[in-house]
Amino acid sequence: MSAPNITWHHGLVRPEERESLLGQRGAVIWLTGLSGAGKSTIARHLELLLVQSRCFAYVLDGDNLRHGLNADLGFSTQDRSENIRRVGSVAQLFSDAGVLCITAFISPFREDRAQARALVDEGRFIEVFVDTPLALCEARDPKGLYRRARAGEIAHFTGISSPYEAPENPEVHLHTRDQTPEESARQLLDALGSLRVLPPA
Ligand code: ADX
Repeated sequence: MSAPNITWHHGLVRPEERESLLGQRGAVIWLTGLSGAGKSTIARHLELLLVQSRCFAYVLDGDNLRHGLNADLGFSTQDRSENIRRVGSVAQLFSDAGVLCITAFISPFREDRAQARALVDEGRFIEVFVDTPLALCEARDPKGLYRRARAGEIAHFTGISSPYEAPENPEVHLHTRDQTPEESARQLLDALGSLRVLPPA
């Protein structure tokens, strides 16, 4: 809900004009999955592949945004929803600006992801399930957080003491167990081509 007595101001430049300037359409490529699933790494590789293909792409990353815009938020259900609400809104602005905005957040709740999707036009929100089994994330444990969560030192840890609601119908499903992050990013790039998110080569 926005505050009363405010109106949305439309610019004099139409989105299509910006898109023709950039040679691409803006979109949100929304990666979701457990902590340690590889979201950030895949997002970085995808960003590189896109830029190498002369597409304008930018990553919004959970850990990074929690240092700034979302520094006031923790990991309660309410705070995570607010985290995703803000990220969804920023991603919408990036997409409106013509950018291929790649987001890498656990975003564990279906309803929060659905709300982020609802902010952009049909076909401009690509939900990507970075499907890495909990046991594998826990075995990797790159930041030692699973170990601490199991020891009861971190509350509301996703997959341990807080739920993760897997996407039911994602546009792209990455089975990362048998892939390197580079391979996952390449599969995702190919999928974006098939979904006509990318300009024709
Ligand atoms: S989200 O659930 O709100 O989408 P987000 O992606 O921003 O999470 O942040 C997740 C990162 O925060 C994890 O990769 C991990 O490094 C760190 N983290 C710290 N505490 C927790 C926790 N309780 N649950 C999950 N991740 C946590």
